[in-house]
Amino acid sequence: MNFAEFAASRKSVRGFSNKPVSKELVERIINAAKWAPSSYNTQTWRIHAVTGDVLDKIRDGNTRNNIAGKPHVRDFPYKEDYQGIHRKRQIDVAIQLFEVMGIAKEDKKKRMEWMMRGFRQFDAPVSLVLTYDKTLEPAGITQFGLGSLAYGIVLAAWDLGLGCVINGQGIMQSDVVHKHAQIPDDEAIMICIALGYPDENFKANDVRSVRASNEEFVTYHGF
Ligand SMILES: Cc1cc2nc3c(=O)[nH]c(=O)nc-3n(C[C@H](O)[C@H](O)[C@H](O)COP(=O)(O)O)c2cc1C
Repeated sequence: MNFAEFAASRKSVRGFSNKPVSKELVERIINAAKWAPSSYNTQTWRIHAVTGDVLDKIRDGNTRNNIAGKPHVRDFPYKEDYQGIHRKRQIDVAIQLFEVMGIAKEDKKKRMEWMMRGFRQFDAPVSLVLTYDKTLEPAGITQFGLGSLAYGIVLAAWDLGLGCVINGQGIMQSDVVHKHAQIPDDEAIMICIALGYPDENFKANDVRSVRASNEEFVTYHGF
């Protein structure tokens, strides 16, 4: 497979088998991903690899807070009320996922269950929590670097037969993650990546999201 085929073959995985993921395997993934570029090679990223009891406590805390209606708190300013074509794409992929999972639009209970599954990081055996030092704020360049690292992680995992879903849901109750993963307050939690072996029978793993054609977002100058 060439790189274009490999990149196109990757999909987000939201259902995981019970097969454990060893620390050695996580190291292999990180060893490959850390070759991601960063501004001036500053590598202003940190990874907290979380599993077992620690991850279960995070899942539990996220679940409790969300049931209690606690507002979402992240460590950096963000806005996610997408409009127009962005909103359409957001809805389209949700429709794809709900369709394969047999979740009807009006079925509030199942929709809630799906959301809670996300807050549990899809019950993945491992979560990689990506952070950066708050001294770097305003941290747009650093956040860009964490994005490149995240894609490196996802591709490296896919190459080894593992699946991932980068997700904001797992870190939306940021104080829960700080507490149980013992992440110091002077680190900002950016995102997490749920990681494990894909459950081949989990329907959502079959979803193939779409991409816009290049004409929609590429402008050539001087060609
Ligand atoms: C920054 C970021 C945050 C995301 N947050 C979530 C999330 O909270 N829950 C979820 O199910 N997927 C999440 N995703 C996965 C996207 O929905 C997914 O990448 C997108 O629909 C494209 O699908 P694909 O990864 O299968 O190509 C996130 C992805 C990124 C890059």
